[in-house]
Amino acid sequence: MTIDDHDSAVKLTMAQMADPHDLYQKSVQSPENDIEFLADYFKDYTGKPLRHFREDFCGTAYLSSYFVTQHAKNQAIGVDLDWPTLNWGMKHNIAPLTPDQQQRISLVNENVLDVQKPRSQMIAALNFSYMVFHDRPTMLQYLANAKESLEPGGLMVMDIWGGSESQVLQEEQREIENSGDKDIGNFTFTWDQDTFDPFTHFYTTRIHFSFSDDSEIRNAFVYDWRLWTIPEIRELMHEAGFQDIHVLWEGTDPDTNEGTQTYHRAEKGDADLAWIAYIVGKAPSG
Ligand SMILES: C[S@@+](CC[C@H](N)C(=O)[O-])C[C@H]1O[C@@H](n2cnc3c(N)ncnc32)[C@H](O)[C@@H]1O
Repeated sequence: MTIDDHDSAVKLTMAQMADPHDLYQKSVQSPENDIEFLADYFKDYTGKPLRHFREDFCGTAYLSSYFVTQHAKNQAIGVDLDWPTLNWGMKHNIAPLTPDQQQRISLVNENVLDVQKPRSQMIAALNFSYMVFHDRPTMLQYLANAKESLEPGGLMVMDIWGGSESQVLQEEQREIENSGDKDIGNFTFTWDQDTFDPFTHFYTTRIHFSFSDDSEIRNAFVYDWRLWTIPEIRELMHEAGFQDIHVLWEGTDPDTNEGTQTYHRAEKGDADLAWIAYIVGKAPSG
């Protein structure tokens, strides 16, 4: 074996070196934007600062970890079923925080259906994670439990996606800037809408990552979801006892006709091919 052969024998591909949780966070999460948006909305709506935040389906607790850095009184709870994912978050997102910040974040390794205390001012269930619930009774159970987990007048916020393209089996790719990581560099994130059953709205979606050395991680994350609709979630929130249930809809730039990535309360949406919105419900004021 020559030295060159030996080098190539031990050289790992980018796919082998990459960490799927790191790639996921870089591709689909933006704690700075999300927390600013959620805290501003809470302040505008209630007149109070957001200090007690719960992140359901928190995964690596990326949002919670950022939230506790934003104010000395901010406290966060992250709830997730998957211990290895929480553990990754503890190592990569929580360990770098100061001891004081670390004390203000709790991770709960349980089912979101079962956790109520301590109560929070806001619960966020983002990146459509609640779509893991496939039937009305379980979704109602989730929302009823969430309502009981909120302080009086607290807000439940869920993002939701739809539009005709949401039911098309297709792969959508995005280039992700990652030049700070010399080993991996920029990479491609693929959102794969793989199977969809119009009878049940059961949906299999997949996330793949590919790299400049032509290696890839197929099925880094796979989700068996039900594609819920805005009216279904609104009706279930109503049944669960939420009040003032409303939708935040993305603004449109009149010059470009593109979305502005700012969301405002609206009474009616547009039949866009693909949209993301937020559904908000208020827990009774007590
Ligand atoms: C799509 S990831 C969300 C990651 C991250 N929070 C985000 O917003 O992108 C879904 C997470 O939900 C968790 N999960 C699924 N069912 C759950 C349940 N019933 N209770 C708590 N966590 C659950 C999974 O373990 C996974 O970490």
